[in-house]
Amino acid sequence: MKHLLKMLDLSGEEIVELLNLADQLKYELAHGIPHPHLAGKSLGMIFQKASTRTRVSFEVGMYQLGGQALFLSSNDMQIGRGEPVEDTARVLSRYLDGIMIRTFEQDEVETLAAVGSIPVINGLTDFCHPCQILADLLTIRERKGRLDGLKMCYIGDGNNMMNSLIVGCLKVGMEVAVSCPEGYDPAAEVLEFAAGCGDRFQLYRTPAQAAKDADVVITDVWASMGQESEREARKKAFAGYQINDELMAQAKPDAMVLHCLPAHRGEEITAQVFEAHADEIFEEAENRLHAQKAVMVTLMKD
Ligand code: CP
Ligand code: NVA
Repeated sequence: MKHLLKMLDLSGEEIVELLNLADQLKYELAHGIPHPHLAGKSLGMIFQKASTRTRVSFEVGMYQLGGQALFLSSNDMQIGRGEPVEDTARVLSRYLDGIMIRTFEQDEVETLAAVGSIPVINGLTDFCHPCQILADLLTIRERKGRLDGLKMCYIGDGNNMMNSLIVGCLKVGMEVAVSCPEGYDPAAEVLEFAAGCGDRFQLYRTPAQAAKDADVVITDVWASMGQESEREARKKAFAGYQINDELMAQAKPDAMVLHCLPAHRGEEITAQVFEAHADEIFEEAENRLHAQKAVMVTLMKD
């Protein structure tokens, strides 16, 4: 593994190895066992979109690994004024040991990795959010004791979260059922990958069908960053695609609920369901730290 650009690039074994390392680092942190695997190393974090969890968990994670993280807002960088990503990649490769980037186009992340000479980690694009999916899988495995054979149901937009959950969950042997309105399907290359998994993948237009007997129910906002102008239209399109008590009645009685956050209560999830599953959702947020530390150690350790 040289980079973390999208879940499609990882094998099921690589995902499980990252989760195992994340578990170990989480245990060491909880027991005060130092793990300075990246002492003296620097991670640059380029943000073209807002962030709470990604920024803080990467910055703190790098500190706990003995290195440092630099917050690089695109507003303050030449890349925000049109300097080509190719030149940015060549320059940053000479100072840094790794780059985390949050941006719009997946192509920009792929170019950064192709042109630069250091590991690149995708901290969210319009296409995918691999760091979040690793944290989600870590949370599911912690709580359910396994991944293989469990059913993940995702209700809502065919966005970066749906794209990467479909791929990540299928790669580790889970069953996946998603539900979205027509016109909001996941990406074509994701559907193509899922089609290769036979009946382990199903796409329904009716959320209740997707939620049937699910072990894990997941959703995300209806309007992602960059889609603010579509908010009202999306509210109409997604009415009925909400995680509420009625929908949860379709899932297994001990089903978990996850949300990558930030959440819009009353839209994609009711406040009642959110609060009933707050332990899981905030553990999921914490697990960003442990999962990303595993990614950084895997990619950046000598
Ligand atoms: N879930 C997630 O990526 O959160 P932030 O946007 O706060 O980083
Ligand atoms: N789909 C959301 C995820 C935020 C973490 C977005 O892209 O805004």
